[in-house]
Amino acid sequence: MRIFKTAQEMSVFSRKTRRDGKSIGLVPTMGCLHEGHLSLVKSSLGSSELTVVSIFVNPAQFGKNEDFDKYPRNLEKDIALLKDSGVDVVFAPEAVEMYPEGFLTFVEPQGGLEEVLEGEIRPGHFRGVATVVAKLFNITDPDKAFFGQKDAQQCLIIKKMAQDLNFSVEILIMPTVRETDGLAKSSRNSYLSAKERKAAPAIFKALQMAQHMIELGENNPAAVTAEIRKMIGRAKLLDLEYAVVADPETLRPVESIGSRALALIAARVGTTRLIDNMLIER
Ligand code: PAJ
Repeated sequence: MRIFKTAQEMSVFSRKTRRDGKSIGLVPTMGCLHEGHLSLVKSSLGSSELTVVSIFVNPAQFGKNEDFDKYPRNLEKDIALLKDSGVDVVFAPEAVEMYPEGFLTFVEPQGGLEEVLEGEIRPGHFRGVATVVAKLFNITDPDKAFFGQKDAQQCLIIKKMAQDLNFSVEILIMPTVRETDGLAKSSRNSYLSAKERKAAPAIFKALQMAQHMIELGENNPAAVTAEIRKMIGRAKLLDLEYAVVADPETLRPVESIGSRALALIAARVGTTRLIDNMLIER
């Protein structure tokens, strides 16, 4: 497995790979890898001739009072995991490599998707995400790039960005990988105390309940979110930030639930923010 730290080395290597006629799959991550990340890696390995995993805790997508400094980092362990998985290349640049002094060009999603939900609570977050992902696409020149449904809003914004900026990369969205009690795997789960960890699956339970209600014929999103509120309210230690039944494409709340809806929840468990969602079809 090759490890590149500079954009130049990575770029030369990916251009050569493409010239040799090999396809490249990219899995962008912020490291501290878990089975959710590894499921994306597996998909890439199964469908691309060369798999690049990027590991970069992107300062541009963290707000001033967010957890950039304490975000879990474990590069050596990540590298060992990826080596065992059969990954070809790890791209792990330092922050100055991606944002050298004088850096001033950002990709700014506009027009709605970035304004709601995570975008409303974390201003500038998707600007940071879109910028770093565009840079990663340019540096690694992938045929396919793999993202997790766990971050549904991020998936939609990246798909739109790739389309709007004419990146010739296919964006593939993979299902959310969960712990046995339903909690979506996340690097941030490591922040949870034992008690918080025990309480956290209430988020998934609330999504399942929403799914059940909708499958049984509930059309009123307010009735569904009221039940989510109640359920999360009963789970001590959890503070609901939002619960929405939205259009899966625009993420705007729906007035009446149709054949496809996306239920999204964000909640605080102590000082940790957790997000999850479920696509509900009937
Ligand atoms: P990170 O949180 O490390 O996640 C990297 C990728 O793994 C994302 O596409 C995310 O949706 C996916 N992922 C996370 N948890 C998952 C789970 N439980 N099941 C399936 N996939 C999961 O998301 C980011 O990093 C960053 O914003 C990034 C796209 C790398 C840009 O900096």
